[in-house]
Amino acid sequence: MEFSLFQQKEKPQIEAALVRHLSKEKEFEGTLYQAMHYSLTAGGKRIRPLLLLATIQTLGGELEQGYEAAVALEFIHTYSLIHDDLPAMDNDDLRRGKPTNHVVYGEDLAILAGDGLLTQAFELLAESPVSDKKKIELVLALAKAAGPNGMVAGQVADMEGEGSSLSLTALKAVHEKKTGELLTFAVYAGSVIANAPIEIESFLLQYSTHFGLAFQILDDILDVTGNVDELGKNTGMDAQLNKSTYPALLTLAGAKEALEYEIKAAKKSLAEIEAVFLKKGKSIDTQLLSDMVDLLAVR
Ligand code: IPE
Ligand code: IPE
Ligand code: MG
Ligand code: MG
Ligand code: MG
Repeated sequence: MEFSLFQQKEKPQIEAALVRHLSKEKEFEGTLYQAMHYSLTAGGKRIRPLLLLATIQTLGGELEQGYEAAVALEFIHTYSLIHDDLPAMDNDDLRRGKPTNHVVYGEDLAILAGDGLLTQAFELLAESPVSDKKKIELVLALAKAAGPNGMVAGQVADMEGEGSSLSLTALKAVHEKKTGELLTFAVYAGSVIANAPIEIESFLLQYSTHFGLAFQILDDILDVTGNVDELGKNTGMDAQLNKSTYPALLTLAGAKEALEYEIKAAKKSLAEIEAVFLKKGKSIDTQLLSDMVDLLAVR
């Protein structure tokens, strides 16, 4: 299946599920709710929930079983953006084409809106329409991906990398943690929900690891070359904050080369998955996952 068709069908479902799950509790509709709702509905490409659902689709699972996990992941991602933009962190005033959460609601509510989204994500995962065993696997994996050895650790390393020149190995590790881990969770969650055969687990992990790194390398490149209106966020911020990034370390051309390499590697993992299926006399259509990698190519 093509990604454009899948996105056309699934993005509206994701948007609806995000709002439905946020406003489940009727009594909770004050400023905290508004602040959470503001960032959640400000836009966003929804790449993480789409990748989770695309994995389920590719593996022949039930999409209906994936919406809670997809929404939980987008809640965590949105919280990470609200906190990432705070004055104490990247100090940004534009996100998803709108003033950042703290600009509108104040730092206090922005911090708490992030806390709310983070916590509610786990409530949602626990309500997924899957077996108890799978729920535990999902909760554990999201906690690891988002937590102090995952995304949060990456954010700390990103801050500590300001003003210093990290080695490429160290920078790669920062990117894998701050951004890669949540994308890796997307594919892992899809594979748990759709009962991926054990022989392809390692290739799915490879695919998502390369995807995650490519995603952040592209984000670094777009901070240099991108357009504010198209991105919905300020550009030039990394240089202003003296961040360690791929373009800063490798030049723009070097960053583009690194991106190409990760894209190729992600596709190679998909070819390995196809080969495993073929060996078992089965077939699998990986076009959806391949198209999603193509979205990351800079032209
Ligand atoms: C931005 O993520 C932050 C990174 C981890 C690079 P996205 O580029 O997915 O942002 P939205 O969700 O579309 O706003
Ligand atoms: C953000 O990285 C990573 C997380 C929010 C976890 P960036 O700081 O590069 O993201 P943008 O460029 O502000 O979207
Ligand atoms: Mg940041
Ligand atoms: Mg930032
Ligand atoms: Mg960035």
